[in-house]
Amino acid sequence: MTAFDIVDKYIKFFEKRDHKKIPNSPLVPKNDPTTLFTNSGMQPLIPYLAGEKHPEGKRFVNVQNVFRGQGALDDINEVGDNRHLTFFRMIGNWSLGDYFKKEQLPWIFEYITKDLGINQEKLYVSIFGGHNEFSQDNEALSVWTEIFENVGLNPTNRIFHYDAHKNWWSRAGIPENMPEGEIGGPSSEIFYDFGKDLKLHENSQYKNALCHINCDCGRYLEISNTVFMQYKKQPNGTFSNLPQQNIDHGAGVERLLMAAENQPDVFLTSLFAPTITTIEKQTNKSYEKNVREMRMISAHLSSSVFIADANVYPSNTEQGYILRRLIRRSVDSFNKLGGKNLDNIIESIVDQFKQTDPNLVENFEKIKGTILEEQEKYAHSQKRAKSFLIKKYKHQGDELMSNTEISAEDAFVIYTTHGLSPTQIKNLGYSFDQQKFAEKMKEHKNLSKKGAEKKFRGGLADHSKQTVMGHTATHLMHTALRDMFGTDLHQSGSNITSERVRFDFNFDRKLTDEEVAKLEKVVNKKIKENIPVHFEMIPTDKAHEIGAIGLFMDTYGESSKIYFIGGDSKNPEKSYSIEFCGGPHVEFTGEVKSFKIIKQDALGRGFRRIYAKVG
Ligand code: ALA
Repeated sequence: MTAFDIVDKYIKFFEKRDHKKIPNSPLVPKNDPTTLFTNSGMQPLIPYLAGEKHPEGKRFVNVQNVFRGQGALDDINEVGDNRHLTFFRMIGNWSLGDYFKKEQLPWIFEYITKDLGINQEKLYVSIFGGHNEFSQDNEALSVWTEIFENVGLNPTNRIFHYDAHKNWWSRAGIPENMPEGEIGGPSSEIFYDFGKDLKLHENSQYKNALCHINCDCGRYLEISNTVFMQYKKQPNGTFSNLPQQNIDHGAGVERLLMAAENQPDVFLTSLFAPTITTIEKQTNKSYEKNVREMRMISAHLSSSVFIADANVYPSNTEQGYILRRLIRRSVDSFNKLGGKNLDNIIESIVDQFKQTDPNLVENFEKIKGTILEEQEKYAHSQKRAKSFLIKKYKHQGDELMSNTEISAEDAFVIYTTHGLSPTQIKNLGYSFDQQKFAEKMKEHKNLSKKGAEKKFRGGLADHSKQTVMGHTATHLMHTALRDMFGTDLHQSGSNITSERVRFDFNFDRKLTDEEVAKLEKVVNKKIKENIPVHFEMIPTDKAHEIGAIGLFMDTYGESSKIYFIGGDSKNPEKSYSIEFCGGPHVEFTGEVKSFKIIKQDALGRGFRRIYAKVG
């Protein structure tokens, strides 16, 4: 059984049951500026889970590349144990108000035990046991009871109940943490038991208690999660029922492979083992004695390969910052083991994933270049940090040596000017007062990150009124700019919060004061005209034919969601703007009220950034 077989069998299993396969969405979402990376298979389906009609039907299946290294789904710090990764492939199936628990749970059990041949004796399940106003999921309990009885297993020892901390799923976690407009629901998970001989329990936070399926020791592995997506958070903090009861199922391919191979260490499965062997060769060290470091190298570099493939470059902001962190963490572990050359390891990772992701081979040179360049930059920053310290401490007559104690202030200067994190400074061999550093960091964060927190609240689309107005203003600005400067100009990114609109586009100079005034005038004129805004799901080819623009070029099957400001698909000549977009938008442009440019920035390499305010 390979990772490829797991995906292939799953897609076929659900296609046989009338599911339509939908594409793997880009790892960096193109139409959702509030999230850095696609972090679950359901993300592109949110409007349809919330009740919008999907033009392609009610049953879907796919495999989605996901990255969980930010917000509520941040697994970066978990990497190093036997099972956590930040990048993985998630197979998923969905029912949009069609079938529900009594079809879904037996199907998943059948796929796991029959198609993958995983030993049923090793399977346990959890159900939602109730939380605040939500009561226990007795329907899931009775469906599971029947499933186990049918195959001759005693259900009493197999079904466990947990509250919302374990058996509720939303992108923000438990019901209390869900913001207004977010959808979620109770879940039911399947666990694989690696057996009581696995000597991991002594490292668990529950080491003084009995092991249970959600214990974090690694004996039990979660291999499937079905969410009964049926609630929406209201502005007053209560929950309403969605117009339909949905199934949202996700399972990590790498974890299913661990169960299929009965291998409790994901890095020793057939998928990762060749990379570990390459790391052993490159460092001349054994995995057994350097487990943590080799896991970090393997997991973080795999994520880096996929993120670099998505055209992200290391930087100090957003996706680029995450990529920088991942590469530097792998380099730290690699340096610690005395490694020098990452080339072969990157090659081995691409080799390991190429069957499911052939584009990695095509983009190999670009991926390798991005990672190796950052490795070099990192080495350079380390050198500069060292020479800063040597100069600084020279007047004391000391030659600055490793283990030397430096001041928290100096450590902080190194952090802000040379971009080295506290751990990276420590890895260079310097120690400093951690407490003082943390205080400085807190001050710094409070000053500079006020907006950022809101922006990436766990990667949740913000549907506040102000933000919705901002989305529509962006479309107006996009068309106005193209009318002023020609249709080679196009949007390269955007980010909208309730405070402001940020819009990036290809342009090689600052807009003059007159141009800014003209842009504002045109957009405000369109706002005053109070033009109707609506969307239609139309065939993607047709959307291109009628001149739809925008970033969102991926589609669900053959159709795309297109927003029109004025006109419609039959009268596109009457439209002021036609864009590929996920929404949401106002219904009439008048609701945007007013539009004002507040700032311009250069982004380098022929790109500009504009900040504007609406309302
Ligand atoms: N959306 C659920 C998850 O990501 C299935 O775990």
